[in-house]
Amino acid sequence: MSDYYWDTQYEYLRNTRKLYYNDDYLEFLIRFVWRITTPVNIIDYGCGYGYLGIKLLPMLPEGSSYTGVDKSKELISQAQKLFNHSPYRTEFIQGDIEEMKIQSKNDVAMCHAFLLHMTDTKSVIEKMIDSVINGGRVICFEPHWISNMSNYLIEGVEQSQIVKLGIVQKLYEEDSKRNGKDGNIGARVPILLSQLGLKNVECRVSDRVNFLDQNIELENKEALYSALKDEGLGHEPGEQNDVIKRLMARGLLGEEARAQYDAEEFFSKQFKLQSWLTYAPSMKISYGTVSR
Ligand SMILES: C[S@@+](CC[C@H](N)C(=O)[O-])C[C@H]1O[C@@H](n2cnc3c(N)ncnc32)[C@H](O)[C@@H]1O
Repeated sequence: MSDYYWDTQYEYLRNTRKLYYNDDYLEFLIRFVWRITTPVNIIDYGCGYGYLGIKLLPMLPEGSSYTGVDKSKELISQAQKLFNHSPYRTEFIQGDIEEMKIQSKNDVAMCHAFLLHMTDTKSVIEKMIDSVINGGRVICFEPHWISNMSNYLIEGVEQSQIVKLGIVQKLYEEDSKRNGKDGNIGARVPILLSQLGLKNVECRVSDRVNFLDQNIELENKEALYSALKDEGLGHEPGEQNDVIKRLMARGLLGEEARAQYDAEEFFSKQFKLQSWLTYAPSMKISYGTVSR
């Protein structure tokens, strides 16, 4: 059994990607924002099981190709299985991007929920830029956790009782100082793209607002509820003293850690299949053109 975390996360990834974008919005980006009208070669950094390929290839001009790179052997093997009998031109490469040299020149370099796991984001974006032809694009879909956290509503519950914005803001900042990884990276990517020399840099927000509607069919409701739980909404925090200790080790004061524990526990009790809930992940989609 592998001890690489992402080797065990196929089910989680498969169950949660649908929370982020409506297909019509992705199509809108391809057709009207990026104006991709001729076949393109895409490379996807930290591709996982090939989520971006699965979504985008059917929307791209015929003849487009997709190369996925990921450190997880298990996810790369799932991606290969998923695309085995597909009509698309795909290639999957297993390896650590921080150590690999990408030789190919592509029309587009992309990543999805990947840069937040990097400690040296700038050098990874530089690699992405290097793997793109002059005039090509770099496109990064990345989270912005604090704006995500302010985008929950459970009917009948005050938002401030389930999400302690100031406290989680501090947690994210302390985590990032300690381990160099930044769950708010989505909001910083446009700045990095521009500082690294890309032109026409823009940033958009994911469109999807997930609505746990009590009037929809039970099967659809259960599927959405399960995806939201996998996403971490209303997760059971665990044993009180352990959680508080861990939160304090991550930089919270005792009082803040207790308030955070109480909020997580309360959220976990309030969030049920029968809840009315809206939730917008608020991913940031940043892109720019390579001009050498
Ligand atoms: C949150 S998952 C996102 C996967 C996929 N992009 C998606 O959205 O479904 C992060 C991915 O980054 C990969 N990853 C993390 N560090 C990596 C590295 N140094 N080199 C290559 N892949 C890496 C993980 O294996 C994992 O598949």
